[in-house]
Amino acid sequence: MKFENPATENPIDQMKVVGKPHDRIDGPLKTTGTAHYAYEWHDEQPNAAYGYIVGAGIAKGRIQSIDLSAAQKAPGVITIVTAENAGPLGKGEKNPAKLLGGPEIDHYHQAIAVVVAESFEQARAAAELIAVDYHRATGAYDLAAEKPSVTTPPKEEPDKSVGDFASAFAASAVKHDAVYTTPDQSHMAMEPHASMSVWEGEKLTIWTSNQMVDWCRSDLCLTLKLPKENVRVVSPYIGGGFGGKLFVRSDSVLAALGARAAKRPVKIALQRPLIPNNTTHRPATIQHIQIGTDKTGRISAISHESWSGNVSGGPPETAVQQSELLYAGANRHTGLRLATLDLPEGNAMRAPGEAPGLMALEIAIDEMAEKAGVDPIEFRVLNDTQVDPANLERFFSRRQLVQCLRTGAEKFGWGSRNPKPAQVRDGRWLVGIGVAAGFRNNLVMKSGARVHLDAQGIVTVETDMTDIGTGSYTIIAQTAAEMLGVPLENVVVRLGDSDFPVSAGSGGQWGANSSTAGVYAACVKLREAIASKLGFDANTAVFADGQVKMDGKSANLKDAAADGKLSAEDSIEFGDLEKKFQQSTFAAHFVEVGVDAATGETRVRRMLAVCAAGRILNPKTARSQVIGAMTMGVGAALMEELAVDTRLGYFVNHDLAAYEVPVHADIPAQEVIFLDDTDPVSSPMKAKGVGELGLCGVSAAIANAVYNATGVRVRDYPVTLDKLL
Ligand code: MOS
Repeated sequence: MKFENPATENPIDQMKVVGKPHDRIDGPLKTTGTAHYAYEWHDEQPNAAYGYIVGAGIAKGRIQSIDLSAAQKAPGVITIVTAENAGPLGKGEKNPAKLLGGPEIDHYHQAIAVVVAESFEQARAAAELIAVDYHRATGAYDLAAEKPSVTTPPKEEPDKSVGDFASAFAASAVKHDAVYTTPDQSHMAMEPHASMSVWEGEKLTIWTSNQMVDWCRSDLCLTLKLPKENVRVVSPYIGGGFGGKLFVRSDSVLAALGARAAKRPVKIALQRPLIPNNTTHRPATIQHIQIGTDKTGRISAISHESWSGNVSGGPPETAVQQSELLYAGANRHTGLRLATLDLPEGNAMRAPGEAPGLMALEIAIDEMAEKAGVDPIEFRVLNDTQVDPANLERFFSRRQLVQCLRTGAEKFGWGSRNPKPAQVRDGRWLVGIGVAAGFRNNLVMKSGARVHLDAQGIVTVETDMTDIGTGSYTIIAQTAAEMLGVPLENVVVRLGDSDFPVSAGSGGQWGANSSTAGVYAACVKLREAIASKLGFDANTAVFADGQVKMDGKSANLKDAAADGKLSAEDSIEFGDLEKKFQQSTFAAHFVEVGVDAATGETRVRRMLAVCAAGRILNPKTARSQVIGAMTMGVGAALMEELAVDTRLGYFVNHDLAAYEVPVHADIPAQEVIFLDDTDPVSSPMKAKGVGELGLCGVSAAIANAVYNATGVRVRDYPVTLDKLL
């Protein structure tokens, strides 16, 4: 089904099941431990051996020699795979560096071997006996040091200019010009990257933890030089992804190679201390922002340039994305600069681009408002735009930023905020309030599904869509229940299997809207099959209460499948609405902090997010997404930072002991408000994404609150106490 008519009303609009705060249908499986994660298919594969990955001990250079002899003789060892004995390997399209390195080393902890043994402990002990002799080469590890030499944009990301920024900025009555930095960050999903591989002849089945089943399958096939039909990827439950599991990683490739060499199933959970350097991370940025306004605070010139680094072939962090669209202004400039670094691979982490971009931009806006003598909320309202500022003909499909700000201001008590910093005291705490706008583009992706109806009236949905803890199972069940007029309990959802139709997958906050729209399309087809079987017209028949009704006539839905299961398959494809309209999601984040006047310790006291993100398919699962994202925003603002060793080229704090993330005690009351919103342009579901929006702007709101509390403006994240004293 091609989606091109935004005006169409459809069965989803009844909102009998969709839009209700249903508990997760997969919740009981998870809370009772019966949901199988990638590492947990023990009963199915009791004979699985254990793989332990060895990461490179240098960041750049060559392996001179690798001595496996002692490890091979160690107790329980079955086989050891390295680049020398793995046979010819290809490379996935989405993997800039090889997932099995050697002899050349591209980054620290790049996998160079996997030891397969009878037990995890034996594999680990044997891995310690592998002796590697390296030749270390000089690498570039320091973004700030490389920055002066990177003055032109990457080929695929040219600068964007509208009007004449330089002249307009020079002529502005009020000017702001500052540099902001954000550090490298790690996804640190609770469940490590994990895979189990089983070969039957030339056919491979891999149970893994991956957000994008089809991308995983494609890149695995390229890496292992296998035809697509020989590989099945199964990823039904995922313990967090945040972008870290968008791509195939070393655990999958080495489980496959290990299993082939061992001639038996092999499972690997990537060791926690390997994850930050072996997998991807959010790259650090250095962002230069210049804003000029007239005397009233109206923006006339805005420029945002962002530097990031990556291994050769890796993408830049697109931290200027939001600055193209968030505020009006006739003269604009944005540009990305990419340094080649020999650090581990950088790539997407929750709201790539906008999350770090807003960490800088929304402090700059706070500073600009203060310089212009305008309240920060009024400043944002004054500079709102309902069109793409680079193309005044192109409207936002829906844009409720002003309503988000106004609603939040009222709920949070913005009116009682003292705009003068460092004035409010509560015992030893300096108290401040901050605000920031949230913005994240809404992407749509082709998505397919298959739906079956059986003689008991049970509806089964199959799609390779994943649920990374987001609630996909539940909203997909709600969609099918609404479309076919059956209770939620009568819907079975099967996800995360490459034997099912290819879906949008979980990424870029497109998953909820796109995957349910694919299920919608398949349900439209199934309704046609049911109607024709029962002698109704699919266009006018009503599907409700397990029945099909029309003109006073009714029939039981399940009778359509009395002589055999009825099935339908379709996908949603998006026409050019995406080009005609700018689709984005909006939020306003409000935060109150207390900063200890003696120690500089910052504690978040209250948080509120007001979101406008189209129809909310399930307010409970959506809220969980947003409070999780707000929590991540606290981490990004106050503690998260991969510390780079700029001599040796690696992230030093590569485990959860040293990479600090918020715990329950760090998180106060969080409130989330969803504005009443339906976006007719986004899909037949009229929904958009919230999972990344919830993070966008949070950290700047915290930094702005810290400024309001203390009068200290920190432009380098994280805002740690040493920067406040
Ligand atoms: Mo997201 S960073 O595309 O999982």
